[in-house]
Amino acid sequence: MNMNILITGGAGFIGSNFIHYLSKEHPTYNIVNMDLLTYAGNLHNLDDLKDKANYNFVHGNITNQPLVEQVIRKYQIETIVNFAAESHVDRSILHPQIFVETNVQGTLVLLEAAKKFELRKFIQISTDEVYGSLGMTGYFQETTPLAPNSPYAASKAASDLLVRSYYQTYN
Ligand SMILES: NC(=O)c1ccc[n+]([C@@H]2O[C@H](COP(=O)([O-])OP(=O)(O)OC[C@H]3O[C@@H](n4cnc5c(N)ncnc54)[C@H](O)[C@@H]3O)[C@@H](O)[C@H]2O)c1
Repeated sequence: MNMNILITGGAGFIGSNFIHYLSKEHPTYNIVNMDLLTYAGNLHNLDDLKDKANYNFVHGNITNQPLVEQVIRKYQIETIVNFAAESHVDRSILHPQIFVETNVQGTLVLLEAAKKFELRKFIQISTDEVYGSLGMTGYFQETTPLAPNSPYAASKAASDLLVRSYYQTYN
């Protein structure tokens, strides 16, 4: 089965590795990478893919609703995988606002678009940080209570809860 898939934050550390994985395992998928190219994004991570016909890069912000909708229409997107985030704990302590804008507002824009265009699948990339700190041993489970300890973790927990609520409310 083929798929048109929008990867957000694909120029970052994990997103670029995911795009490489996807294009290797599913060479016929049409991949659109939408990334704002903040200090954390590096398009050179994807140099080897840039000339492929079924890979496209869009320089843009996930909080930009008209742009997100335009991309979904243009590429007939069926699935979103949302890696885009402000992702560094220390920066969130200095500048929490941008974490709420990108991680919470940005996720909301993507969810609204997924609802509007009735996408098949929405995958949100979370973080273990939403569960707080482990001691020296042990592990988190999905049933572990949320206990974010930084503005970064709180913004990721908030976006996870929005995703959950869209699943429950809008299916
Ligand atoms: N790195 C980790 O250890 C880790 C662990 C658990 C979860 N995560 C989560 O995985 C995801 C990816 O993490 P990473 O380490 O690859 O992060 P990263 O900081 O390397 O990459 C984030 C990417 O998002 C882009 N971006 C930032 N704001 C954007 C916006 N408003 N619109 C579009 N693009 C934007 C950046 O340019 C960058 O390319 C994040 O959601 C993060 O919370 C990371």
